[in-house]
Amino acid sequence: MQNQTLVQLIYTSRLVFDASTPEGWSLIEDIVARAHERNTRNGITGFLLVGKDWVAQILEGENARVNTTFHRILSDPRHTDIRLIDVRIITRRKFDGWAMGASRRPMSALPPQMSAHAVGFAPVSFEAILAMARDEAA
Ligand SMILES: Cc1cc2nc3c(=O)[nH]c(=O)nc-3n(C[C@H](O)[C@H](O)[C@H](O)COP(=O)(O)O)c2cc1C
Repeated sequence: MQNQTLVQLIYTSRLVFDASTPEGWSLIEDIVARAHERNTRNGITGFLLVGKDWVAQILEGENARVNTTFHRILSDPRHTDIRLIDVRIITRRKFDGWAMGASRRPMSALPPQMSAHAVGFAPVSFEAILAMARDEAA
């Protein structure tokens, strides 16, 4: 895969704090504001789905840049249990114009496959996450 290839990466993780509290939500706002700034510089677009104690994130951009960003995200102590769902080559971005969109409030509905998150959730499908992010972004 060449470095300038356009890819879409999706992962899920568990937050180490409760995003449904005002304090927790302000941590999410910090993450999103900073991500927005860095992603703008790196040509990365995407969406962050936020639940009470989990996130699912879509990162789109040039392969090398998505890779570097994901590696930074991997070592972030604010979340754990990071599961890479997939990386796919794309021809067009799905979140063009979103340097990092995000849920406007904690999502109460867990995607079905993630409801077992606490006990080591089953893999969530790429399509399921993408569909949820499209709904949230609408
Ligand atoms: C759930 C989550 C999502 C994140 N998303 C992004 C992102 O899209 N882009 C990014 O650059 N950093 C993102 N970060 C932040 C990185 O993990 C890291 O903290 C940040 O890039 C470090 O920036 P700094 O060294 O300039 O403080 C995210 C962190 C978390 C916990």
